[in-house]
Amino acid sequence: MAQIFDRSSNALARASLVLTGLIVIALGVTLDQLQRSPWVTRQGQRPDQPVPFSHKHHVQGLGLQCQYCHVTVEKSSYAGIPPTKTCMNCHSQIWTNAQLLEPVRQSWATGQSLVWTKVHDLPDFVYFNHEIHVNKGIGCASCHGRVDQMPLMYAQNTLQMEWCLNCHRNPAKNLRPTSEIYNMAWSAPREDHPVWCSVADEKSGVPTAQSVNCVTRDPAQAGPQLASLEMPAGGAKGLASDVAAAQLPVMPAYRKFTSQDELGHFLLKQYKIRTPQELSSCEVCHR
Ligand code: HEC
Ligand code: HEC
Ligand code: HEC
Ligand code: HEC
Ligand code: HEC
Repeated sequence: MAQIFDRSSNALARASLVLTGLIVIALGVTLDQLQRSPWVTRQGQRPDQPVPFSHKHHVQGLGLQCQYCHVTVEKSSYAGIPPTKTCMNCHSQIWTNAQLLEPVRQSWATGQSLVWTKVHDLPDFVYFNHEIHVNKGIGCASCHGRVDQMPLMYAQNTLQMEWCLNCHRNPAKNLRPTSEIYNMAWSAPREDHPVWCSVADEKSGVPTAQSVNCVTRDPAQAGPQLASLEMPAGGAKGLASDVAAAQLPVMPAYRKFTSQDELGHFLLKQYKIRTPQELSSCEVCHR
């Protein structure tokens, strides 16, 4: 062989091997990026809708709650899209001549539902459920972003497996009090912005998400009248103060949290969140 292929062809062969390798890697990277690109995931895109419905206008502007329209989000796997009737509650009286709303009136008159284009759409082989996320302290905004600031709906996140797993591997960093689920502007507790959570059920054994109540104002300072009732002037142990004490509602004990780390770990226990290993196992999402 040495006669036919001189030494330089050895180098050539090596070079072409390296080159082939590089091309394969480049192709892999391109495909991978394509797979993650907004073009495939539709992240950030605003699809055409029959009516240019604005969450910004209806949520931030008019102060409507998410549940007003997405009525099943707390009790079913689907959040649900409102029927035309919900729109007509107002639009039978407001903006009744607006051209923009013609499809809504048409739908109302004919009984034919509006056909909204899905913005978030997981493949059928993935199991997802709103109920459990919402009832275990994951806010709408953690997954959908600042919906109240969206004139037209778009997907804030990719909804790819990696994105789901990122949270399932460390849910504590996203847990919040269930009372704050719909709060678009919720921010994690900090030293200068603490949160107080009631821990009344801690000892009774069965914590539930609903039994956790958190407030952003110091409960000890919330009721000056209550505080003064608790300490009767002069420490008199008369009948009157006994009656007053008996009438006081049982105040739950509050614990102060000054970081998401603390709050997250407290809520992990209260909500009985499974371990990261359990939450990342394939059967959770692929059943
Ligand atoms: C007045 C009714 C109304 C209210 C209030 C409302 N929505 Fe919607 N929502 C809709 C309609 C109609 C659609 C479908 C059209 C679209 O995608 O913009 C929708 C779509 C969505 C979608 C995308 C659905 C998809 O196709 O993937 C999300 C996410 C969403 N809403 C979240 C929220 C959140 C979070 C709130 C509260 C901050 C909220 N909505 C309040 C009516 C409402
Ligand atoms: C609680 C009352 C209420 C409900 C429910 C409601 N709207 Fe509206 N909508 C309004 C008001 C008020 C305006 C603003 C009119 C103005 O600009 O002064 C408006 C404006 C609009 C506009 C004009 C564009 C814009 O956002 O300014 C569209 C389109 C619209 N609504 C669609 C819908 C659809 C679709 C639904 C049902 C999913 C719906 N609305 C439900 C009260 C409502
Ligand atoms: C853990 C992440 C997560 C949270 C929290 C979450 N969503 Fe979703 N949402 C999704 C995913 C994923 C989809 C797509 C589901 C599918 O395609 O089957 C979706 C779809 C939707 C849809 C489209 C209709 C439907 O039910 O599929 C609406 C509306 C919606 N979400 C509203 C909300 C509201 C309102 C909240 C807060 C109360 C909320 N979501 C909280 C991840 C989340
Ligand atoms: C921001 C955090 C977060 C994101 C993002 C998230 N999850 Fe979850 N998920 C949770 C938490 C917290 C639980 C409750 C765990 C528990 O109760 O042990 C949960 C539970 C679940 C469950 C268990 C339901 C049951 O009944 O056992 C499924 C399925 C699930 N998630 C699917 C998904 C899918 C699919 C995605 C991505 C599209 C996703 N999740 C994104 C936090 C998240
Ligand atoms: C927290 C939920 C969750 C868990 C846990 C999970 N997956 Fe997925 N998986 C998804 C989602 C969401 C998609 C869809 C991704 C998309 O549409 O791009 C997916 C897609 C896939 C696909 C299709 C190829 C792809 O990447 O799109 C395969 C294969 C897969 N998962 C295998 C697994 C295996 C194996 C495990 C266990 C090690 C696992 N998954 C655990 C949510 C999950």
